[in-house]
Amino acid sequence: MNIRLARIDDCNGMQACNLQNLPENYTMKYYLYHILTWPSLSYVAEDSEGRVVGYILAKMEEELGEEDDPHGHVTSISVLRTYRRLGLAKKLMVQSQEAMAAVYHASYVSLHVRKSNRAALGLYRDTLGFTVKSVEHKYYADGEDAYAMQLSLK
Ligand code: ACO
Repeated sequence: MNIRLARIDDCNGMQACNLQNLPENYTMKYYLYHILTWPSLSYVAEDSEGRVVGYILAKMEEELGEEDDPHGHVTSISVLRTYRRLGLAKKLMVQSQEAMAAVYHASYVSLHVRKSNRAALGLYRDTLGFTVKSVEHKYYADGEDAYAMQLSLK
């Protein structure tokens, strides 16, 4: 499995992967916006035939509070079921985090995750060292709460 920067022509594969894996879905325009605006932050995992089997869609936070430092945000990450537990999500996260710090001087990275998402919480908290900053009640369309999580990149 190969991890590389996402390109414009990956948007279809990323969207297909997202639709299979998550109820939070995005317009094609939103994928394009990420890749065109922050071309070094989104990555794909591809199989030997070049098919997208996982992706990370990431950006720099655009709405900063007065005291807030520049920081990255993971909009979405997922890996197709048959390719899970191979370390792909960890690699996708680390690549994007490194680029956030190196290219945009991000001081930390943030994300939201469902309280019930055991696999993703394992990845963020146990493997990568994210901590929970707050609980956002009814953050998701179906009423589930989100953990707002952060990891320092300094
Ligand atoms: N249960 C518990 N811990 C897990 C699990 C699991 N099912 N899966 C991964 N982890 C943890 C483990 O600590 C694992 O390390 P280990 O295998 O050495 O024990 C570590 O995460 C790294 O695992 P990876 O192999 O890198 O993770 P994977 O490639 O399987 O992808 C992901 C994890 C992205 C959460 C995957 O399960 C997935 O696509 N789920 C559906 C979509 C999803 O929930 N995405 C996140 C939504 S939140 C957001 O997008 C900001």
